[in-house]
Amino acid sequence: MTPPPEPAPPETAARPTFTLPRTVALVGLMGVGKTTIGRRLADHFHLPFVDADEEIEKAAGRSIADIFAEFGEVGFRDGEQRVIARLLDEPARILATGGGALTHPLTRERLKEKAITVWLKTDIKVLARRVANKPHRPLIKDRDPIDVLKEHVKTRYPLYEMADIVVDTGDQSHARALELVLDALKRHLDGESK
Ligand code: S3P
Repeated sequence: MTPPPEPAPPETAARPTFTLPRTVALVGLMGVGKTTIGRRLADHFHLPFVDADEEIEKAAGRSIADIFAEFGEVGFRDGEQRVIARLLDEPARILATGGGALTHPLTRERLKEKAITVWLKTDIKVLARRVANKPHRPLIKDRDPIDVLKEHVKTRYPLYEMADIVVDTGDQSHARALELVLDALKRHLDGESK
């Protein structure tokens, strides 16, 4: 006897309603949720997720803190640039970049050319609260995070402006932030296809 047909899977909100033509790269200051939101975005689109910082650590066989200690920020940026270039040559995925990635001109150039860039933005008071007591970030190891973040607003906001999409996530949950990113991506891609 033939078994009865499998019931159709339920329509869930998690089902992607559109596809991504190329890698989506999340940019923005430390603590804004690039990794957490990136993972959720990857789940949503059934795409691989990759975190540039983790890939740099793998490639160097050392932690980010050790790379900074041994080669300084310039050495770190150089490795970061090479790793991001390699990741952008691979098939479409969701890529979380480190907060300072766009300070390297080649990284900006390659991201512009090969990815849809999404700047996740939120108030630095929210960010300072999130990164407090997380000593793995070398740039805030011996400093007040709010001072570092204020400097980064001045030096990096003009660079993040290159992003294709800006999403202000406020102090919202990551689930809500994901919805905001999905809406913005959809609008952006609808615009591209016109
Ligand atoms: C950095 C941010 C970090 C990491 C490194 C440098 C920065 O990544 O790349 O510590 O310059 O802002 P997150 O933005 O994921 O914290």
